[in-house]
Amino acid sequence: MTTPKYEWQPGAAEIAKAAGIPIERVERMDQNTSPFPTNWVPGVIADAAGRLNDYPDASYRRIRAAVGHNLGIDADHVVPGAGADELILLAARAFLGIARSAAAAEPTYPLYRIATLQTGAEYVPIPIAGPDFDFPTDSVIRAARDADLVWLCVPGNPVGGRPDHEGIAAIIAATDGIVVLDAAYGEFADDRWVDSVDRHHNLLVLHTLSKAYGLGGARVGYALGHPDLIASIDRVRPPGSLSGLAVELAVAALEHPHRMRDAVKILTTRRERLRPRLEALGARVLPSQTNFLMCEIGPNAHAVEAALRREGLVVRKFDPSGPLAHYLRITVRSPDAHDRLIAALERSL
Ligand SMILES: Cc1ncc(COP(=O)(O)O)c(C=O)c1O
Repeated sequence: MTTPKYEWQPGAAEIAKAAGIPIERVERMDQNTSPFPTNWVPGVIADAAGRLNDYPDASYRRIRAAVGHNLGIDADHVVPGAGADELILLAARAFLGIARSAAAAEPTYPLYRIATLQTGAEYVPIPIAGPDFDFPTDSVIRAARDADLVWLCVPGNPVGGRPDHEGIAAIIAATDGIVVLDAAYGEFADDRWVDSVDRHHNLLVLHTLSKAYGLGGARVGYALGHPDLIASIDRVRPPGSLSGLAVELAVAALEHPHRMRDAVKILTTRRERLRPRLEALGARVLPSQTNFLMCEIGPNAHAVEAALRREGLVVRKFDPSGPLAHYLRITVRSPDAHDRLIAALERSL
């Protein structure tokens, strides 16, 4: 089997060129990033921008301390990464490899499978059945008994179903391996994992600054865990994968969490305003604790995605032969973007 490659969607310039529209018309509703401009950034990086001749401090002590301070946890429970993506790849590198296996309930974030297979380990998918996509806790507990690692996405991306806290504790208790709980959208659900990390020494929780913190372009995430787990990640971590600018941005964002909290409030309100407008057009919209809505559109979902894209409205479609073929995932953005989306859907649905 060839090693699967991890690839991102094309950039806005390429999408604009293909659609023959100005780049300003491209609205990324496919990546679950923030609509808020980062105009607070220039002031924060001014000083560091004049000192990029030297490498960053590879201990990333300031990020560890800022996370620790925010969450009330010791800094030795924290390791930063170049986005949660890098931490997923590092967790796979640290805990998987040939003759090992990792399980995940699917559909889920595709990098779990890719990161697992890239290490030579076996990937064990556990189906999450539609149309409601309730989390298959019992099946995951059974799979966890034989797995070296379990990937858990809480809240789930792209389908929202999640195990409850008892279910998560049972999954963690069922395995001698590691449980990686990806809380990329945790701030939208007001989840707090610090106590769980203290209780369960095989639990690694991933966070990102790309979603609620609105810093997708900065590429910063962090993992929480028992110091032994953190040391295992540190052992395989490239020393300088976060730039000096990313450090300044991360520390500033973490030191002003009110900006994140305000964003979560606004985006949650916008999400629940968008939901009935999509439903009024005939879409079935799944419950959401995130900054996106999963919509069942029907057999023409791919044609609808293409029509939206021609207008610069980029939403996420899924494998036409998979269980989400009839769904589109829509990131919550600005009220203007939502008006454009609804008008375009009225034409294409
Ligand atoms: C569940 C999940 N985990 C991780 C990531 C990656 O986050 P980052 O931008 O921090 O690499 C994403 C991004 O879409 C995600 O949805």
